[in-house]
Amino acid sequence: MAGTPPLDTSQKDLWDEIAFEKDFHDTFYLAHFAPLVKSGESIIDFGCGYGRVLQYLFEAGYSNLRGYDFSPEMIKRGKVLYPHLKLKLLENDALSIPVDDTSVDAVILSTVLCCIPDITHQKKLISEIGRVLRPGGALYISDFLISTDKKVLNKYEGGYEKFSEYGVYQTSDGMIVRHHESSYIRALTENFLELWWYEEASETMNGNPVHAFHSLFQKIS
Ligand SMILES: C[S@@+](CC[C@H](N)C(=O)[O-])C[C@H]1O[C@@H](n2cnc3c(N)ncnc32)[C@H](O)[C@@H]1O
Repeated sequence: MAGTPPLDTSQKDLWDEIAFEKDFHDTFYLAHFAPLVKSGESIIDFGCGYGRVLQYLFEAGYSNLRGYDFSPEMIKRGKVLYPHLKLKLLENDALSIPVDDTSVDAVILSTVLCCIPDITHQKKLISEIGRVLRPGGALYISDFLISTDKKVLNKYEGGYEKFSEYGVYQTSDGMIVRHHESSYIRALTENFLELWWYEEASETMNGNPVHAFHSLFQKIS
């Protein structure tokens, strides 16, 4: 996308620092994914971390799996834990997916949008996903919505002072994260057909309360 500002690569270093320390827990709702994506179909997990979601899919019988992440240490941990998985480090521009147009059956973004606080970067990533997915392909997104929890409201207030945007704040690890309005996510994915949307109380990797959503979209054409 023309005019997209460069990624803040200091964020990548922060993910490297915690790669072997923190575990991710966000639920993957296979019961909603499986009817749309068959076991031999090609699946890309963007921002795959150490491969947790892909391993879950592997155990469920999926075989055509690839994960991409911009953190070398996340990929390193994934290769130690799950050497059978294809986990790849994204070089250079971390918002490009190095595969051909319309060559992929499904893309997963599990708690990745929250780690991309710049809206132009989020838009670029969703547009890139639209490029690589085949018509009718699936996009599974889980992430965090704006919370009403008092502890999180305090973070938003501190974040607003620093970044002048509500829902963006800095974690105790130094990462800059974004929580979203559901209407914003729906606008971001307006070129996809929404098939399923579910919200629940959850926790961040640091154990803080959050309001999570899980969703499934389909590329229209
Ligand atoms: C909260 S973790 C989630 C990992 C994995 N999706 C899961 O659910 O287990 C977010 C991951 O996104 C990766 N990430 C953040 N920004 C990224 C970017 N711009 N490009 C690629 N990966 C990114 C981080 O390195 C980290 O591994």
